[in-house]
Amino acid sequence: MPELAYVNGKYGPIEEAVVSIDDRGYQFGDGVYEVLYVFGGRLFLFDEHLVRLKMSLDGIAIRGVDMDEVRAVMIEMVARSGFDRAKLYYCVTRGVAPRNHPYPAGVKPSIHATIRPVTPPPSEEIAKGLRAVTIADFRWGRCDLKTLNLLGNVLAKQQALDSGFDEAIFYGPDGVVREATAANAFAVDGGVVYTYPLGPHILPGITRDLVMKLGREIGVPIREEGLTLDKFRRADEVFLTGTTAELIAITQLDGETVGSGGTGPVTTRLRAAYDQYVESFLASA
Ligand code: PDD
Repeated sequence: MPELAYVNGKYGPIEEAVVSIDDRGYQFGDGVYEVLYVFGGRLFLFDEHLVRLKMSLDGIAIRGVDMDEVRAVMIEMVARSGFDRAKLYYCVTRGVAPRNHPYPAGVKPSIHATIRPVTPPPSEEIAKGLRAVTIADFRWGRCDLKTLNLLGNVLAKQQALDSGFDEAIFYGPDGVVREATAANAFAVDGGVVYTYPLGPHILPGITRDLVMKLGREIGVPIREEGLTLDKFRRADEVFLTGTTAELIAITQLDGETVGSGGTGPVTTRLRAAYDQYVESFLASA
């Protein structure tokens, strides 16, 4: 089964999918998106992603998107692809119009989606964790909206890779650690898990939310409270959450070993709870 694309009502091979050069997503980053995982041929945390997509659409005033249709297209993509484990990318832009900054009148939103298979990372890779570098946040002021404006994230990620790290973690002008380039960030200090509070500076991650719920269920104290760089660097454990990152330890931060250098005990417990949640999702089919 080939990787599949969807463009405004048409399904087909990705290589054949085309969008207009006048699409505002292309010209202005004027659009929003979601990335969902498919496990066992079913969309994981589906309703949560739909709710956030609607929030992002409302957040940038893209109107006229029928959420029932969005749901139906996503289900159809999964069914047509036949993929068991996959990544679905779904994006809505303000539409196609001659380039001009104001919202164009009477233009329908444009919808593009792709689905591609995913291979689960080997457990040694998960256990090894990632090396991260901290970077001053230079992104725009509405990081709570999942918009196509990802240049800041892209530049930071590349800067990390170019300097021999795997990931970049942003901190604000107040020196408080916010999130990574495509994942939310957590630190464990004295058995308590800390993560930056919801607001304009971070994406309200769906995996973040799930991990917080799972943590509470298994008795891990979690506080939505940002930590300064200094405290973050001295934390016992640091980890990231995200649809594609799932839950992974940061074992080196700015060249220094975090805690004991491996995946710490709290991160291990939370990852086990996450894996168990995925298992029960698979079993609930
Ligand atoms: N990104 N923070 C940022 C900046 C993100 O881009 C993402 C996800 C997250 C985690 O959110 P969630 O748990 O809902 O996936 C946090 C996706 C995976 C991406 O852009 O590819």
